[in-house]
Amino acid sequence: MKNSSNQIKITFIIFLVLGITLSSFRREAQNSYNVSLKKNIKPLSHAALSDTTKKDPETGLIVDENLYMVKAQCTGCHSTKLIMANHFTRDGWKQKIRWMQANHNLWELGDTEKQVLDYLEKNYAPIQMVSRRAPLKGIQWYDLKLN
Ligand code: HEC
Repeated sequence: MKNSSNQIKITFIIFLVLGITLSSFRREAQNSYNVSLKKNIKPLSHAALSDTTKKDPETGLIVDENLYMVKAQCTGCHSTKLIMANHFTRDGWKQKIRWMQANHNLWELGDTEKQVLDYLEKNYAPIQMVSRRAPLKGIQWYDLKLN
């Protein structure tokens, strides 16, 4: 009887220590994930927010000097909505291209890859939505007099 209650205690302690150790690892992993996320997020650029950004009527993509290359290389297989719905870093876009090359018969882009990546990095980078007002600054608090 004595022996088995000791066993229960020891098992309990082992689980407790394991739990604490694992949860601290998790927090660390989460933090470094958040940091790497934040590093890659730029505040939403004026161009991306603005309703007046010029869009190509045919594809809906943002107009700039490299758009013609993106139209040439990226519109053959799927809607440009797939492009517009995504926001990646240059490296992220490169990985998407590699993924399509490996799995979906996308051809080698050769020298044009730089233009395509320039375009995607500039116009479809990760964004941070402005959904809350900035905290108030320099507030002058006063005592509320009730009578
Ligand atoms: C040879 C055909 C082909 C071409 C050309 C092509 N893609 Fe794709 N792409 C695909 C296929 C297939 C999918 C998967 C579609 C699906 O999941 O419905 C895809 C999916 C995507 C996605 C969504 C990825 C995801 O994670 O859901 C993006 C973004 C994308 N393509 C961007 C591009 C860009 C940028 C180019 C130009 C460099 C391009 N595609 C050219 C075949 C192609």
